[in-house]
Amino acid sequence: MIFTVAIDGPAAAGKGTISRAVAGRFGFRHLDTGLLYRAVGVKGGDPAQSARHLTPEDLDRDDLRTLEAGQAASRVAVLPEVRAALVDFQRRFARADGGAVLDGRDIGTVICPEAEVKLYVTASPEVRAHRRWLEIGGDESRVLAEVKERDARDMGRADAPLRPAEDAVLIDTSAMGIDDAVAAAVAVVAARLAGT
Ligand code: DC
Repeated sequence: MIFTVAIDGPAAAGKGTISRAVAGRFGFRHLDTGLLYRAVGVKGGDPAQSARHLTPEDLDRDDLRTLEAGQAASRVAVLPEVRAALVDFQRRFARADGGAVLDGRDIGTVICPEAEVKLYVTASPEVRAHRRWLEIGGDESRVLAEVKERDARDMGRADAPLRPAEDAVLIDTSAMGIDDAVAAAVAVVAARLAGT
């Protein structure tokens, strides 16, 4: 069965948790596409070359989840050559047999416009920054500034900017616990699988 769940949205909106839960619930494979850009961002050197020659070890580094790696990812993600180098891998993953969940910024709009389910998961910048701050600590106002800076770059770039696909289902998690957000996502996928 070919069945793709595309989950897009800004940083720290809950995409990762929702994606893992949906994949687990339906037995689909999961790809966190942000990790690809993070790996390119921290690898250094020419970003387009790095993107063309990413290895499994690059994706296994333990420094990919830091704020700095997120900013580095967002900076290399504006480069069309970097994005182009990562397209085929993501498309193959999305359309391979067995069902797949991909989370990122452009999955429903560019990577897999034919996805059977498209979700756009968002929350206010303040709520997202607070969640990220609870995870990593430090200065909350700096975390908020970083969240806003990354949003502006991801939404403002010319190539594959972050925006909801026209046919995406919006899930705003600002005032929602993660269990309710997961339940909302699971319900959309279950309805589509049931053909409703
Ligand atoms: O989801 P994340 O925070 O790990 O993503 C890090 C950065 O990578 C994000 O700020 C923009 C970029 N990115 C992208 O441009 N397209 C994707 N599909 C995923 C991530």
